[in-house]
Amino acid sequence: MIIVLLGPPGSGKGTQAELIRKNFGFYKISIGDMFREAIKREDNIGKKAKRYLATGKLVPDSLVLKMVKREFVSRKGRRNIIFDGFPRNINQARDFNEFLNSVNKKIALVFYFDIPFSILSERLLQRRICPRCGAVYNLGTAPPISHNICDRCGSILAKREDDRAEIVKNRFQVYEKETAPVKKFYSKKEVLVNINSDANEDGIWRLVKKHIDRKFNQEKTK
Ligand code: AP5
Ligand code: MG
Repeated sequence: MIIVLLGPPGSGKGTQAELIRKNFGFYKISIGDMFREAIKREDNIGKKAKRYLATGKLVPDSLVLKMVKREFVSRKGRRNIIFDGFPRNINQARDFNEFLNSVNKKIALVFYFDIPFSILSERLLQRRICPRCGAVYNLGTAPPISHNICDRCGSILAKREDDRAEIVKNRFQVYEKETAPVKKFYSKKEVLVNINSDANEDGIWRLVKKHIDRKFNQEKTK
């Protein structure tokens, strides 16, 4: 089963992707995480992507599509895959569709996390991440037990480079212009599930889980 998580910056894609991975054993492809790791390693991809992430712009499609396809092919035999934050514009969505057709696959569900920017800025400014194990916190809604220390591995937490107010503003603008139209693209294909994301993590997870369970049941009875 292939699932796409779509939504504005901070809408909870990463949080729900991790829950889907943990609870259903999906293979997770998060392009944002892959770029951040490449930037840390200072490899070729990291060098190419760095300035785009730092300013909140989209990395060029050619690089993103190459990474996605490579990752898809090397997914270690996993049938169930979540894409967190991909596709992110109409060109990526069309190209991805053609690619999936060519390998005889299709998207089962696209979750759209629906929430106004006014709530998201606060979430992004309050987000902290663990640079070592990747755990995500929120000082407002999901703080660590000890101030600024990762519950899982004890490292000092950090802010994501692009979670600064001026960059967040750019990310919202890019989202509005480039990514928002992707929602319409998928609504025509009848795979779109709108999730009101101005709710707590558990409530959203219950809804997401219900839709995935239902999809698995439908596939079983086919
Ligand atoms: P990416 O890493 O994908 O960032 P994003 O889309 O801006 O989204 P975020 O990761 O900021 O938010 P999220 O929706 O995952 O929310 P989270 O669960 O963390 O992309 C970064 C950059 O990479 C892009 O700007 C671009 O440069 C590049 N890139 C990536 N994909 C690309 C592509 N396809 N094409 C081209 N370039 C690409 O939650 C946010 C915070 O809220 C956390 O603190 C969390 O704890 C908290 N939270 C989560 N859920 C809730 C809830 N229900 N209630 C309260 N708080 C919550
Ligand atoms: Mg994310």
